[in-house]
Amino acid sequence: QQADIGLIGLGVMGANLALNIAENGYRVAVFNRTVAKTHQFYEDAGDLKDKIVPCETLEDLAKNIRAPRPIILMVKAGEAVDEQIAALKPFLAKDDIIIDAGNANFHDTVRRLAALGPNDPTFVGMGVSGGEEGARHGPSIMVGGTPESYARIEPVLTAISAKYKGESCSALLGPDGAGHFVKTIHNGIEYADMQMIAEVYGILRDGLGLAPDAIGRIFEKWNEGPLNSYLIEITAKVLAATDKDTGKPAVDVILDSAGQKGTGRWAAIEAQMLGIPATAIEAAVAARSISSLVGERKLAADAYGDLLAGRKLVHDAAFIDALEDGLLAGKIAAYAQGFEVMAGASKENGWNVPLATTARIWRAGCIIRSQFLDEIAAAFEGSEGKNLLLAPAFVERMKTGSASLRKVVAEAALAGLPTPALSAALNYFDGYRQQRGTANVIQAQRDFFGAHGFKRLDQDGDFHGPWSDVD
Ligand code: 6PG
Repeated sequence: QQADIGLIGLGVMGANLALNIAENGYRVAVFNRTVAKTHQFYEDAGDLKDKIVPCETLEDLAKNIRAPRPIILMVKAGEAVDEQIAALKPFLAKDDIIIDAGNANFHDTVRRLAALGPNDPTFVGMGVSGGEEGARHGPSIMVGGTPESYARIEPVLTAISAKYKGESCSALLGPDGAGHFVKTIHNGIEYADMQMIAEVYGILRDGLGLAPDAIGRIFEKWNEGPLNSYLIEITAKVLAATDKDTGKPAVDVILDSAGQKGTGRWAAIEAQMLGIPATAIEAAVAARSISSLVGERKLAADAYGDLLAGRKLVHDAAFIDALEDGLLAGKIAAYAQGFEVMAGASKENGWNVPLATTARIWRAGCIIRSQFLDEIAAAFEGSEGKNLLLAPAFVERMKTGSASLRKVVAEAALAGLPTPALSAALNYFDGYRQQRGTANVIQAQRDFFGAHGFKRLDQDGDFHGPWSDVD
């Protein structure tokens, strides 16, 4: 019996996705470059073995899938994807669909699609979020492709996706690179969210002198309120964990240098290219880069010493509440930025990415999943194209939340504690709501040194100095 779908690449994500597909009753043909891994995967598949067809060659894989064949690629993003497409093409027909489910750069997805000839298979760029657990039991799936190709793979994607109150977290978000773009911004938001949580942890650790388990309990409590989310939940868990070797809190033995594979950086780069402020995401990427300067940070710590002579913050219930509320306000501003970048890219590329749907398929399955995304989806219903900070429900929240965020950022600054993402979020909010900004001075400077011209508040047209009276 032929398989319904194929999957190439049995790394952690691919293997789990294949098991998820099999568990949902679809027969899946699998291939991995290292043949032994394919057999091992099959041997380990237990009850699901009868839904899995291990294949040793790509030709074998193609033969074992019922035409027209959908084939998921779950290989390392970059050259490996191009190599797989080239190797696979000779065995595929026009109606087959290659689905790149890796963390591709959307520019590559657009290029790959453009490189396919009229008789080549179709290509779909699909963002998948949720890590290992999500891949196995239900990820969030962000698809870029044609409605025809999505219609053909929709049943299996709906079946394997996460469900939020019964609703599938898989959707077609636009053509060609739209799915991978949305996944990139998801990761940018993920970076900002994680960074803001880490900043709050830093304030609790260094500003209030709390131990990891005490901080963990605070996060655990927050997880029952408006901050309820997967990232807060796992932060509480990692803070409660103990290192087996030393008996110390696990977080205390982990080197404070964050890795990054590139998607957060891409989100910041795309925001810059579009001219859309995504300062909280940029700050989160930069904070990871600073974290990696382990040796230099030691030198700087020695050079500057404790400038504030161990100034501690006041530990009271009001400040803990401000941290909770401030973190939520920071999140609102950071998510607003991420959605603005998606709206901008959607316009630029003519994608028509539905923002409410995007928020809806992020409510479950993905790394940033939260009840907060349900509120974002509701805010976008009927008011697509508007900054989240202008949605009435969020205006109300930010009116009070911004005061907490301000307190947190100010207190942290006075105690010498870095809050790059939280303060970027606050500054974005304050800049965004400032009717009379300060760019009048920039315009004057530009005109002074380069005759770039400026507009006036009181007259139409383009104007220049004279600045000669001050020369
Ligand atoms: C997801 C994640 C995932 C990403 C990791 C690691 O949505 O499941 O975003 O795709 O690869 O989070 O990313 P970094 O190594 O860049 O932190």
